[in-house]
Amino acid sequence: MPRAEPILEVRDLVRHYPLTRGVLFRKQVGAVKAVDGVSFELRPGETLGIVGESGCGKSTVARTLVNLERPTSGSIRYQGEDITRLSGRALKAVRRDIQMVFQDPYTSLNPRMTVGDIVGEPYEIHPEVAPKGDRRRRVRELLEVVGLNPEHVNRYPHQFSGGQRQRIGIARGLALRPRVIVADEPVSALDVSVQAQVVNLMERLQDEFGLSYVFIAHDLSIVRHISDRVGVMYLGRIVETGTDTEIYDHPTHPYTQALLSAVPVPDPEARERRERILLSGDVPSPADPPSGCRFRTRCWKARERCALEVPLLAVPAAFRDAGTPARHDSACHFAEELPVVAGGAGPPRDRPVPGPPPPGGSGPRAA
Ligand SMILES: Nc1ncnc2c1ncn2[C@@H]1O[C@H](COP(=O)(O)OP(=O)(O)OP(=O)(O)O)[C@@H](O)[C@H]1O
Ligand code: SF4
Ligand SMILES: [Mg+2]
Repeated sequence: MPRAEPILEVRDLVRHYPLTRGVLFRKQVGAVKAVDGVSFELRPGETLGIVGESGCGKSTVARTLVNLERPTSGSIRYQGEDITRLSGRALKAVRRDIQMVFQDPYTSLNPRMTVGDIVGEPYEIHPEVAPKGDRRRRVRELLEVVGLNPEHVNRYPHQFSGGQRQRIGIARGLALRPRVIVADEPVSALDVSVQAQVVNLMERLQDEFGLSYVFIAHDLSIVRHISDRVGVMYLGRIVETGTDTEIYDHPTHPYTQALLSAVPVPDPEARERRERILLSGDVPSPADPPSGCRFRTRCWKARERCALEVPLLAVPAAFRDAGTPARHDSACHFAEELPVVAGGAGPPRDRPVPGPPPPGGSGPRAA
């Protein structure tokens, strides 16, 4: 069956924040390369999960998608049209269709506004969606849709629990009947017991309203649960992308393998058997990323080529003819499957990673 056209198509997205010096005469001395060449597609009704360590640029991608920030370069096509070039009414119309759900339900809701006013606020900016006389009814309907009591429309955010507040945020995100929702860590601030309820609610709403999601999180288990496809980010770039099975069961990029090997495994036997990959060192500064492969300062497989040549996000040559899920995009010169990740079978040993390679990289590194 032919695949549907993407609803969102991101190409070579770059967002740099200038670093300046001087008080009177500000001079640019560099740039924080928060997002540095990210490409992906989102198809109608699909959920794309984006994972990666803190500071890798996930929220920056999210903000550019919903036009809270303009990218430095690159394109974001919504239904075929590059929205980074739009302004005025055309931009306003697109903003209606792509909504964001924020991370922290404690700070993202105005404490002085009632729930009704919070959920109905988007209608002030887009009055064409709901005539004034109909807004109250719609707000009550939205509260019901997200599992809240419509009778509580006049309450204030502090009168709700964290999970309920996130439901308010989701109701607000739905008010304009968007096609795409960008959810930036929507459950990270919630108790584990409440996380599943909110994720289940989002899945139900997706089916009910035909929504497409970009779902950002650092919890790999939650991302697997909700995502059809996953993109793994490291230092401003996507290093590996594929279906949930491809990424979780057949990762070929060392960074993904390391991330997965750190996921807690509930089964004690599997925990015993699995191999953990311990990454040493901190994530390098996005103002001065390493040459070649950005992961090379923490990668146990780094060789000279890794310092010299930027690995492209594509199906690695070794897997081009493979008939297995290992055949997916991975930005690594030496991509290979590791037999033991995320609780799979294998010898019970840790894989310590030695310090960063010498400048320019030299020879194979111990594993
Ligand atoms: N307005 C800004 N000015 C300068 N640097 C910024 C700005 N916003 C973000 N950054 C930097 O860009 C990088 C990416 O930040 P971003 O918030 O996108 O990361 P993240 O992946 O969402 O992290 P987290 O998981 O902690 O939310 C970080 O190094 C951050 O310090
Ligand atoms: S390209 Fe080299 S440094 Fe980068 S992930 Fe692959 S082996 Fe490691
Ligand atoms: Mg973030």
